[in-house]
Amino acid sequence: MTLPRHVGIIMDGNGRWAQSRGKPRLEGHRVGADSVRDITRASREIGIEALTLYAFSSQNWLRPIDEVTGLMQLLREFLIDERSEILDNQIRLEAIGDIEKLPPFVTEPLHELRAASANNTKMVLTLALSYGGRESIARAVRELGRDVAAGKLAAETIDVDTFDRYLPTHGLPPVDLLIRTSGEQRISNFLLWEIAYAELMFIDVQWPEFRREHLRTCLDQYAARERRFGLTSAQLTSDVES
Ligand code: IPE
Ligand code: IPE
Ligand code: MG
Repeated sequence: MTLPRHVGIIMDGNGRWAQSRGKPRLEGHRVGADSVRDITRASREIGIEALTLYAFSSQNWLRPIDEVTGLMQLLREFLIDERSEILDNQIRLEAIGDIEKLPPFVTEPLHELRAASANNTKMVLTLALSYGGRESIARAVRELGRDVAAGKLAAETIDVDTFDRYLPTHGLPPVDLLIRTSGEQRISNFLLWEIAYAELMFIDVQWPEFRREHLRTCLDQYAARERRFGLTSAQLTSDVES
């Protein structure tokens, strides 16, 4: 079976899951953290090289303060509770986004676990935190512009590979599969540049209920798709034969 090397997930539907059960939205985020644990574990076992989870967007800062604070506390708990599991399983933890905007009670365990797991090689778990795809591209353009101004880079030489080097996802395998839970069919400012050729899957399950059996279904569907990258189907078949 063809496995995606890199899976991105827009973990959506926590609030609706809770509200439909008469519970506060934060309860959905709490159970959603259990899904994160299960999906991380399963991905590692299955042999996925990179898992990137959209946990908090640049736009999510505008939610009610109590929800934002609750999410930050859950994030801290996740980083502390999962520390040994991540290290024991040789997982490297990464983070993308405007990390400097997060409160110190999150950045402290985050930086610590990033450093402690830096040499792990079995899987990269990237948390997108205070992340926006457009913000990420704008930041890359800023840094690239600085290098051009400093004479380190000639504007005429900038191509797709050059630009890619300025993105925080540089170094990860290309995103092969993007999953969004909750039934919404939009990207909501998640990886924009990086999903150019990803297979997209929109699943009608809320994130707190999304567990490894749902991931397996997505992986089966992924394996059944033909990725053509602009070529014809016949070209792909002849490539396999030659
Ligand atoms: C996803 O669930 C988690 C975050 C965005 C932090 P939501 O909180 O968006 O849940 P819904 O979409 O309102 O149900
Ligand atoms: C996207 O979900 C962000 C995360 C999953 C972290 P949202 O719930 O914020 O997206 P919209 O508002 O429905 O587009
Ligand atoms: Mg949502």
